[in-house]
Amino acid sequence: MRVINCIFVTFSICLLSSCSLPNSASSPATDAVNSQSSALTSLSDAYSNYFDIGAALNRTQTSGQDPQSIAIVDKHFNTLTPENDMKWESIQPIEGQFTFEGADALVQYAKKTNKSVIGHALVWHEQTPSWVFEDDQGNEASRELLIARMKSQIFALAGRYKNDIKGWDVVNEALNEDGTMRESKWQQIIGDEFIELAFTFAAQAAPKAELYYNDYNLYNAAKMDGAITLAKRLKAKGIRIDGIGEQGHYGITPPLDELELSIQKVASLGLKMMITELDISVLKFPEGENMGADISLNFELQDDYNPYAKGISAESNNKLAQAYSDLFALFLRYEKEIDRVTFWGVSDNNTWRNNWPMKGRTDYPLPFDRSYQAKPFVRTLIKQAQL
Ligand code: XIL
Repeated sequence: MRVINCIFVTFSICLLSSCSLPNSASSPATDAVNSQSSALTSLSDAYSNYFDIGAALNRTQTSGQDPQSIAIVDKHFNTLTPENDMKWESIQPIEGQFTFEGADALVQYAKKTNKSVIGHALVWHEQTPSWVFEDDQGNEASRELLIARMKSQIFALAGRYKNDIKGWDVVNEALNEDGTMRESKWQQIIGDEFIELAFTFAAQAAPKAELYYNDYNLYNAAKMDGAITLAKRLKAKGIRIDGIGEQGHYGITPPLDELELSIQKVASLGLKMMITELDISVLKFPEGENMGADISLNFELQDDYNPYAKGISAESNNKLAQAYSDLFALFLRYEKEIDRVTFWGVSDNNTWRNNWPMKGRTDYPLPFDRSYQAKPFVRTLIKQAQL
């Protein structure tokens, strides 16, 4: 069994991977890597000539209650994104009541450790309280009211961190898979122009920050064409946009060829490309492995979809290593076009993938395992950068 599995992966990965079954937390191979972990180079140092390497942090981490994650972040990542703490529901849950504690904690930690911060996200249809879209009678807000609220949120949030944040996901997930505009409350009430308004307010509130459009499945040609159309529309009106972020929530077979074409498209427009929320699920999904990241989807937990509750198989572990290696090989080929690669989390015990789109699964999508140990492929990724 072991030998057969190893035949199907590259020699280097097999050498560095766990070929034992199961591998719930740390395997002998993981331990071997980590027993020399002080010798393990930092991921962001290894890639420093090419692009930034980041992670999304949650409140437990930024408030100091998860020192093991912070030890990883200190060493391996040079750019940080708040996983939830700068979303509208975190910043202004009730109209006029701003709560910046979580966001401040992340910015303070980044300053102390000399890491850059990416703001996420100014305008999104998710994790935005319903009051935003309603007037004080509970009816749908008028266009003017919604624009005024968008402006005050952007000025309060992007303005507060105008000297601290390197770039903002200004608009998140405004497109359908076919590249047309999603009919979100923003789009329905304001019209397509909500995009122009969001980027204009962000440029005014944080003139030094880079401004990005961010979405999932932008490897899909039709969807990327929609994003390119948006960017061209902004540019034609003299409104600044600096980059496009592909979230990068993939399944075990990332869409490498399509992704390559999409990177080329962004580059041809003179925009920066970033992979903003990278994780690779080893699980199967009700709508196929690269089903995107619509957070409103919620399927009932079925054992059939949760095969590795007690430990990942060696075969899946090897496929995961191969998928990461292939992706980073692609990123390295396009290192001039790619500005940043951010993982959506630090270790497997704290990833949103354990709960989306089914609550309570056990997934293994990140470079660090449930015992906060670097998986063997981390060393492979580091070696790839050093070739
Ligand atoms: C996710 C967070 O990771 C979860 O903790 C939260 O419950 C839901 O949102 N696309 C995005 C991210 O842009 O903000 C989402 O983050 C994942 C999909």
